[in-house]
Amino acid sequence: MTSSQTSSAAETTAALGEEQGAAVRFPEDFTWGASTASFQIEGSTTADGRGPSIWDTFSATPGKVLNGDTGEPAVDHYHRYPEDIELARGLGLGAYRFSIAWPRVLPKGSGTANQAGLDFYRRLIDTVLEAGMEPWPTLYHWDLPQALEDAGGWPARDTAYRFAEFAEVVRDALGDRITHWTTLNEPWCSAFLGYADGAHAPGRNEPAAALAATHHLLLGHGLAAAVLREGQGGASRRVGIVLNQTTVRPHSTDPVDISAVRRADGVRNRIFTGPLFQGAYPVDVMADLAHISDFAFVRDGDLSVISAPLDHLGINYYKPECVAASADGIDPEYIESGGDGSAYVGCDDLVFVRRGLPRTDIGWEIDATGLYDVITRLAAECPGVPLYIAENGAAYDDEVSADGGVHDRDRVAYIDTHLRAVHEAMGTGAPVKGYFVWSLLDNFEWAWGYSKRFGVIHVDYTTQRRRIKDSGHWYARVAGSGELPPVGA
Ligand code: FCB
Repeated sequence: MTSSQTSSAAETTAALGEEQGAAVRFPEDFTWGASTASFQIEGSTTADGRGPSIWDTFSATPGKVLNGDTGEPAVDHYHRYPEDIELARGLGLGAYRFSIAWPRVLPKGSGTANQAGLDFYRRLIDTVLEAGMEPWPTLYHWDLPQALEDAGGWPARDTAYRFAEFAEVVRDALGDRITHWTTLNEPWCSAFLGYADGAHAPGRNEPAAALAATHHLLLGHGLAAAVLREGQGGASRRVGIVLNQTTVRPHSTDPVDISAVRRADGVRNRIFTGPLFQGAYPVDVMADLAHISDFAFVRDGDLSVISAPLDHLGINYYKPECVAASADGIDPEYIESGGDGSAYVGCDDLVFVRRGLPRTDIGWEIDATGLYDVITRLAAECPGVPLYIAENGAAYDDEVSADGGVHDRDRVAYIDTHLRAVHEAMGTGAPVKGYFVWSLLDNFEWAWGYSKRFGVIHVDYTTQRRRIKDSGHWYARVAGSGELPPVGA
């Protein structure tokens, strides 16, 4: 570890000092929820007329997902949703965030709707409502119908219009039951992991296509948001988007590392917040990427569609990033990636480094100050828009103990620390209105398959038996009391 790594770790650990340890109270009307996503939990990928998605194709391709895992049977939520919703109710949650699989509703991405798919979501939503929770659907959590990928995928402009068509079908079928809508989950992952880095479906390595995908995802968001606000009941619908913005920290105070941060921040964060909040792509980002794309995919009127005001903004946060201008002088053990045309398009010369902080079992460094920074930054960038932490949580190699429990103390500590960061950000005036833990259940963790467990409820993948982990019991206490107990209590 270099000296700069040591000092930045120490500084960030100290930053949230005042929130550590003590009991902390959240407002009465704070929403406590849990999140899931269709492909990660449902299984039944060919049931009742569902069409294939890019994740079915990708996970069936040898070498793409660890251990050859696929979306079958996942945690069989398609059949076990009554039990799962009952478990969520038992935790005392106020809201359940899930996603609606586009290929269940429109098996070919467009055209005739599949009534059986809509019926499944109606049953699910009714079960959530009967359990006294608010259903929070996301329209796109990465399962693009394969037929649309075959027609060009998100780099093709038409996909944005097909997404608006999907939104209309869902609105007409389910709109009377839903208040809070989310268009996209983490478009950065869809565009950059899917089309540049290739670690996610559809697994393409085309940097220019990733930039076109970014724009068409944002356009799809804007078109779908307008559709959701139209029609009967439209005025009372609250529409938002979920972003995985993160803090990008410099490896050192050297101006070259500071400049590296500006560039990485541009393609991770500002390429989304610019169009959404200011109606323009940042000039420096377009200049940085000019050798890859001329942004000719942006047409007249697009940016006003994209920048229509949001009713709420979701934040997914797991870890910050740390970037250096070069690998010079950095212990190779601390270099995460770089120099290989990774997900950060146009940043091939930069190096992403670890800072030597403790990590979860997926290898992600733990630093809740990054969440504080993301919240306070977004609160300033889109003033007055209610913020929700739509995902936050940790993967640990949980085991069922001899006593039948799952004693995941590390996950409790992770969530506790991050909730303290949320609370501290709220103390600065940031309008955070809720927190959804990722995830309700262990599930299919994308390219990691079933090897990474994020649930506050354990799933035995052989028997499909569910067991509430200690973190689930702890989270239920927090949701029930609105208070974080003192650490160790
Ligand atoms: C987020 C995804 C979610 C889950 C967590 C761990 O990026 O939105 O589906 O995989 O990471």
